[in-house]
Amino acid sequence: MSEDHIEEQVISEAHDETAEHFDGKYPIEIEGLTNSFGDQVIHENLSLKVKRGEILGVVGGSGTGKSVLMRSVIGLQIPDTGTIKVFGNDVTAAEPDEEIGIRSRWGILFQGGALFSTLTVGENVEVPIKQFYPELEPELRHEIARYKTVMSGLPAEAASKYPSELSGGMKKRAGLARALALDPELLFLDEPTAGLDPVGAAKFDELTRDLADTLGLTVFLITHDLDTLYAICDRVAVLADKQVIAVGTIPELLETKHPWIEEYFNGPRSRAASATHERAQAMDKQPESGA
Ligand SMILES: Nc1ncnc2c1ncn2[C@@H]1O[C@H](COP(=O)(O)OP(=O)(O)OP(=O)(O)O)[C@@H](O)[C@H]1O
Ligand SMILES: [Mg+2]
Repeated sequence: MSEDHIEEQVISEAHDETAEHFDGKYPIEIEGLTNSFGDQVIHENLSLKVKRGEILGVVGGSGTGKSVLMRSVIGLQIPDTGTIKVFGNDVTAAEPDEEIGIRSRWGILFQGGALFSTLTVGENVEVPIKQFYPELEPELRHEIARYKTVMSGLPAEAASKYPSELSGGMKKRAGLARALALDPELLFLDEPTAGLDPVGAAKFDELTRDLADTLGLTVFLITHDLDTLYAICDRVAVLADKQVIAVGTIPELLETKHPWIEEYFNGPRSRAASATHERAQAMDKQPESGA
């Protein structure tokens, strides 16, 4: 074997060991998914592909199964039929070992936050770190937790506070810090701005966009917030009639002429969100005065 070949082999073996980062086109691929509870069918033959690096907004009326869809992707809801691939691995068929490998590569902010009320913010962030890296020194773990807390826009002191001592917006940020604990490639956010005032919601959106861009994240973002859709989502998937009836940019969705989509994006709230977004973009494009 020539030296070149040996070098190639060493490099490719080293690469295999650290072959963590997904470089395929779709980190999430859902096909033919059916979910039901008793005789209530929630999803029927639903398909959806999430592109690497995008923020995908997921919308649909209340009770259409957005949260159930997210729970299926992260393996908390076993579907009746269908396949769900995450980073190319079929999560519905995964062996427990494989599953752990995949689970450490995503972060989740559940609807409502779901922080452990008896743990401080820092301890909450440490939970997944302890789970996946039990051998890590406590000092280093605390340090990572502090870093993620600050990265999520909270003051460092917040790490020692309990969830009951935080405002709604701070709780969301603490939940985000925990979701980012393991440097995920994929982030699931279920209604992250629900219950926040408009300024807090806009700041949270901005943080999500910044983190997604700087960390190269793919984001699966369930939301009712029209401002969020216009401001930070690359594409939007619409859940209705037990399926994803359309996926695309907002102008592309409007071309589908589906009654729910038209009503949703042409209603007065949507028009206001769109106008605000357009004004903000126009302001961005204006040359700075006095430069
Ligand atoms: N564990 C469960 N057992 C039985 N039914 C369930 C369960 N989880 C969800 N459902 C039902 O599935 C349907 C979809 O619920 P889901 O929480 O996904 O809605 P959603 O689209 O997230 O709504 P929202 O916008 O209000 O959060 C609802 O009718 C709900 O009652
Ligand atoms: Mg929900």
